[in-house]
Amino acid sequence: MEKRNTFSGKIGFVLAAAGSAVGLGNLWRFPYLAAKYGGGIFLLVYLVLAITFGFVLMVTEIAIGRKTQLSPLSAFGALNAKWGWLGKLATFVPVLIFPYYCLIGGWVTKYTAAMLTQASAAADDSYFGNYVSATGEPLFWFAVFLLVTMLVVIFGVNKGIEKLSKILMPLLFIITVALSIYIVTRPGSKAGIRYYLMPDFSSLSFKTVLAALGQLFYSMSLAMGIMITYGSYLSKDENIEKSTRQIEIFDTAIAFLAGLMIIPAVFEYSGGDKEALSSGPSLMFVTLPKVFNTMPAGGIIGALFFFLVLFAALTSSISILEAIVSGIIDRFKVKRSVAALIVCAYGLVLGTVCSLGFGIWSDFTIIGMSILDFMDFVSNSIFLPLVGMLTCVVVGFVIKPDAIISEVELNGPFKMKHFYVAMVKWIAPLLIFAILVSGILQSFGILKI
Ligand code: TRP
Repeated sequence: MEKRNTFSGKIGFVLAAAGSAVGLGNLWRFPYLAAKYGGGIFLLVYLVLAITFGFVLMVTEIAIGRKTQLSPLSAFGALNAKWGWLGKLATFVPVLIFPYYCLIGGWVTKYTAAMLTQASAAADDSYFGNYVSATGEPLFWFAVFLLVTMLVVIFGVNKGIEKLSKILMPLLFIITVALSIYIVTRPGSKAGIRYYLMPDFSSLSFKTVLAALGQLFYSMSLAMGIMITYGSYLSKDENIEKSTRQIEIFDTAIAFLAGLMIIPAVFEYSGGDKEALSSGPSLMFVTLPKVFNTMPAGGIIGALFFFLVLFAALTSSISILEAIVSGIIDRFKVKRSVAALIVCAYGLVLGTVCSLGFGIWSDFTIIGMSILDFMDFVSNSIFLPLVGMLTCVVVGFVIKPDAIISEVELNGPFKMKHFYVAMVKWIAPLLIFAILVSGILQSFGILKI
């Protein structure tokens, strides 16, 4: 059998996994969800879930990958023949995410260009709405983003991208820190900081918890087989527990900063208006150009910022596509280029539908959501928790936690062993089930608390 590549050192693994995890989920999705679901309470729920559920699932997936040395499509089947379908279900989630991920990638591409050429126009309230509701332009930028993603996956210039990431990702981190400092030190930001950091328990609902749970899985690339793949490349000498902590801290720090950068700015420009706070996917695009517009050389800084976001989005979209394509190659034995073309054709169609959902088809809504919001809801609030819950059930009752623990203990003691067993067997699956069911009922308006 061909020997699987392994990451050269621990920091190599942590960086690669963090590179997959950090993307639009942190910079675009986290701030708008936090703004919408009550600020501080969302942040608190998110943090609690990250150190409990996030930790347990990430350890589990990395250990499964390293133990089986297989891709997610085959890994569950190798652990237990009856559960092979769970691997397929997990691989299906990126298929749902891919089209609209590239559509948002197209928005970011457009804004990078707009910051250079018309920064003050982009700061206008109607700019974003006019842009997304148009028919041609968003589709053009979406196609550009999709094409670049596809070319990288077909021709595999991954090595270059990896090198570039080592420079650009730290730069993104620095500029995010700098922007959040700029924003929190501005006179009008106090109310926003309070909203973001002080939990208000009266806005706690199942919907909030479900949104935070879906966001956690999405942001850390959990419950979709990605971390299994990364685990299969991890050398047996590395400590899984420690690596998991580091990836989690990195990913959460970026999301936290993105919120600190965007939410106080929303307050400053809208006075904490409810509607502005719950504007959803448009939040980053409407608020940040206003901030840049107030800064000296704001156009250049804005362009640099959106360029770095674009880069983070691209590295993520490449790995989403790669996950789907490698699954198809494994299963159907087709050529890489054929697989990539098919997936991108599908992505183009579905992404176009999402884009038109903001324009000529905006009257068409599903349970009160636009098409993009609905796709996002189905993938993140239904499929991810479902796969996460089933993964816990398989580990807790079919292959047994010891199988994972022995893998983790190959490199020293598993400090959180007892916590892990209790979580994976009982607490996580039961709670995910409860959150999932009540969150869905609430979203359909059936349950009101
Ligand atoms: N976690 C990524 C983000 O925060 C998005 C993502 C979802 C992803 N699924 C993925 C990245 C699969 C790589 C592979 O934006």
